[in-house]
Amino acid sequence: MNIGLLGFGTIGTGVYELINLNKGRFSKNLEEQAVITKILDRDPNKKVDPSDTAAKIVTNADDIIEDPDIKIVVALLGGMDFEYGLIKRALQNKKHVVTANKAVISEYFEELLTIAAENGVILRYEASVGGGIPIIESLKEELKINRVNEVKGILNGTTNFILSKMTEEGADFDDTLKLAQSIGFAEADPTADIEGYDVSRKLSILSSLAYGGIVKDEDVRKRGLADVRAVDIEMAGDFGYIIKYLGHSILKEKDQVYTTVEPVLFKEASIMSNVNSEFNIVSIVGDIIGELQFYGKGAGKDATANAVVGDVLYILNCIKDDNYPKPTRFAKQLDKCGVSAFEGRYYLRVDIPDHEAFAYVMDVVSEVCDEKSVIVSDDRVFFMTDVMAADVFDAMADKIKERCACFYARIYE
Ligand code: HSE
Repeated sequence: MNIGLLGFGTIGTGVYELINLNKGRFSKNLEEQAVITKILDRDPNKKVDPSDTAAKIVTNADDIIEDPDIKIVVALLGGMDFEYGLIKRALQNKKHVVTANKAVISEYFEELLTIAAENGVILRYEASVGGGIPIIESLKEELKINRVNEVKGILNGTTNFILSKMTEEGADFDDTLKLAQSIGFAEADPTADIEGYDVSRKLSILSSLAYGGIVKDEDVRKRGLADVRAVDIEMAGDFGYIIKYLGHSILKEKDQVYTTVEPVLFKEASIMSNVNSEFNIVSIVGDIIGELQFYGKGAGKDATANAVVGDVLYILNCIKDDNYPKPTRFAKQLDKCGVSAFEGRYYLRVDIPDHEAFAYVMDVVSEVCDEKSVIVSDDRVFFMTDVMAADVFDAMADKIKERCACFYARIYE
């Protein structure tokens, strides 16, 4: 069974090692040998392992997409349009596809699954969410018995690494981001990670599956993390909380869906607070099973390659048994209702440039929040508010930001 690999970067190399270089137990699981025969890489001088006689590097994707001997395409290029086009063509050419590309899956989820079903092939995307955590398959299993009405998780390794380091070392955001980049943890352009796009794509994939209707990346409210400062971590700690970056969606009656990506304060002793560095956690709540949590490495070569190769193995077994899964359908039209369902007390820090600003901030906060604790310290004021809805708090924070820098986070009780 020939496999074509699109992309020979970190994850592609991990997949290549597991399949062609017999690292791990993959080849022992197969009666029939499956092997990568072609690898797409821009650099024609890139070499496969000298011991490997099966694979060769190609620089033209058509060499894989149009190759009738290739039955499975593993798409690990990243980005959007180019890989979307290749995945679509591969499916139309009746090749099974495995991908880790969350941007493509979240944007073209329904279309690609429909094309796969029309062509009698399988599209798998386990590695698109939570790296090595087998959350997609587990969620599908739970949905056979449960109605799932909540999904939440720490879904980004880069921001979790940054927050963990800031918490451990009292370091500030910019320095920790630079450190994360210098050790290859954060990407050169970390925008998708720190502005919430990476989490929202993962959340939209999980929410679409969980609620049975499409939730798109653009439906998800995204609050970035770049405003968090060492002083926020310290102040949260004084109150017994840890700051985490959370993706969260809730399904309410009448198919109403609420989605958010935002910094959140968790009690120090909570499970969420103890998920550190590149580790991710996903929690789903089913009406029968209650809450289930899935924990593991959310990024990195081996963990992600493991999920990709697991999908390849799944497809090989379907082919062997001639038994294909029922295509996933998104039958429901969900009503995307914003963030008003996310209620909680809030932590708020405002930097105060002058006396007038202080009076302004106190007025703005008091307009919508009667009950609050206030701590004034040098040129900052800190609030712990009463329970407020997220949309009300956002509107208040927008007014504060007209005059002052601030950071705020919902407290998860
Ligand atoms: N940039 C992502 C992260 C990679 O840091 O989690 C895995 O999706």
